[in-house]
Formats: sequence, structure tokens, C-alpha cells
Amino acid sequence: MPAPAQHRIIFDTDPGVDDAMALLLALRSPEIDVVGLTTVFGNSTVDVTTRNALNLLALAGRTDIPVARGAGCPLVMPLGGTGEWVHGDDAMGNVGWHAQLDPAQRPVDKHAAEFIVEQVMAHPGEITLVPVAPLTNLALALRLEPRVARNVRQVVMMGGAALSPGNVSPVAEANIYGDPHAADIVFAAEWPIVMAGLDLTESMHADNRIWHLLRDSGDPFGVFLARAVGFYQSFHATWYGLENGATYMHDPCTIAYLIDPTLFEGEDWAITVPVEGPAKGATIVDRRGKFYKTPKVHCLLKGDETGLLRLFQQRLAKIPPQ
Ligand code: BDR
Ligand code: CA
Repeated sequence: MPAPAQHRIIFDTDPGVDDAMALLLALRSPEIDVVGLTTVFGNSTVDVTTRNALNLLALAGRTDIPVARGAGCPLVMPLGGTGEWVHGDDAMGNVGWHAQLDPAQRPVDKHAAEFIVEQVMAHPGEITLVPVAPLTNLALALRLEPRVARNVRQVVMMGGAALSPGNVSPVAEANIYGDPHAADIVFAAEWPIVMAGLDLTESMHADNRIWHLLRDSGDPFGVFLARAVGFYQSFHATWYGLENGATYMHDPCTIAYLIDPTLFEGEDWAITVPVEGPAKGATIVDRRGKFYKTPKVHCLLKGDETGLLRLFQQRLAKIPPQ
């Protein structure tokens, strides 16, 4: 009998090339049971991110996992720019996903926030929320049922920049900037949060050594990711000057943290998010621990890149049985 999964997760996502990396890593990890996907705008519109979520599950042969479509715009602001310039026109590296792979697949008849509330309240203390996109669905879930905060096991998110510069403004990271009002609500709630922000994720790269290994592996997950990553690699080369096909491993850091938290180090700081002005979407951390009264967030600052890549290649470059 295989050991039961240690983490039951709801993956809140805007797929997205690195979202796909994280999801496929999770689906290949016995430590993780994916209870559902919730979708949100971000790397593209919610129509596109929902289609991509459904397609990823079809590709993975996991259409048993429910997808709940979520917010199409931020809580307060109008929808700003989406991330096709980073992830391609189809938000999946221009693999040509302009329709559903399985046209019969449908999202569940429930908003993402309702899905989160229903699952968390039905399984108190068991569900880990893994948001890797703007935090709108989590904020809506808190508004719908504030008791979700005390009933989740933890929140392990990709977003923010504690000490590092931003990636969509001098100070703001994309997922927080996408809906700063939602982020501020999420950071103020009484739930344990682990934040994998740019401090960590821009120190974790995969380059052609990994991408070629996946491409040549014969593993359908690895081969797909190696195809999807091309556009994302070009973005990293032109925008950041990264060499040898290197890309940042933003969203996969959340899943790697769940699988092996000993790979990471961080500090506990309370966070506030300005919602307008030049600092909009920044994650201001109270390093003195004197100014903010909200719960402390575990901000990951460093990680073992070799350990992450070992996990990634072991699980996504497996040759399937003949
Ligand atoms: C985050 O923004 C999105 O482009 C990525 O999917 C990731 O979640 C990085 O800032
Ligand atoms: Ca994402």
C-alpha cells in the first residue's frame, strides 16, 4: 500500500508556464493529493487560464480533479495587463492551446471561492491552499466565510518580494500587483502563510541542462514542459539577460516546499500591501517586528537550487513503463 499523501492541496492558479511546471510536479508527487484547481485571471484572462487548467489535467490523464473557475478581475481595480508577454498568446508558451483538448471537460458549477470554502469547511485542518496567482479567490473565500482562515492547514503561496526588487514595478511582484487589495486581506487573516516570493524564486533557476533532459526523457509531462518552456526562456533571456535557456522557477517552489521544507530558509515578518501610488503591490515587511499587528508570514529567502532541480528531474523526466 502506498503511504497516504501528507498534503491535500487546492492549487489556485493562472496557468501559465511555471504554473504548469508546479502542477505537473504536484501530480507526480506521492506526498501531494490535489483536491482541486481554482482559476483566476493573471497570466491571461480567466477564460484562458481555466481552459489551460482543464487542458493540463487532460494532458495528465487527471480529469477526475475538479476545476472551479474563479475571479475574472481584481476586487477593486479594473483588470490591468495580463501576462501573455511572459507566457505566450495562449499563456502556455504558444503550444497552440486555443481550444480545449477534451471539449467535454467542464469546470464545476461553483465559483472558486465557494469551492475553497466548501472543501476547507468540510475537512477542517486538512487542506493546504497553494495560490500561485493574484490572491482574489482567497480574499473572496475569506469574505464569504471568515472561518476558512482557522480551518485551513496552511497557505503556501508564490508571490511578493520581501527584500528583493519587484518584477512588474520597481517594488512589486506580479501576483501581488495583480490584486493588491486582495493580497492585503490575505496577509491580514489569521492563517499560517508561507510566502515564496522573488527573494527565493529568482535564486532558483532551471537551464538547458534540465530542459534538454526533460525533452529527451520520453516522459509525457517532461516532454510537454520542455516544449512549453521555449517562449518563457526567450522572455528570461531578453528581459533578465539569463543565459543557457535559464528560467526562474517561481511557482514550482511552492510544491517543492511542501515536499521538502528542509530545502528552504526564511524569516517570520508581518506584511502590509499598499494599494495605490508608486509602491502599489509591494510587500512591505516589518523586519523590526514593531509596527504591524497582523500575523507573521514565513517569508522564504533562500533555497537549495540543486535539491529543487533533483526533485524536478526525478519526477518529471521519468521514462514511462513500456
Ligand atoms: C508569478 O507571476 C506569474 O507570471 C507566474 O506564473 C508566477 O506565479 C511570478 O511573478
Ligand atoms: Ca502563476
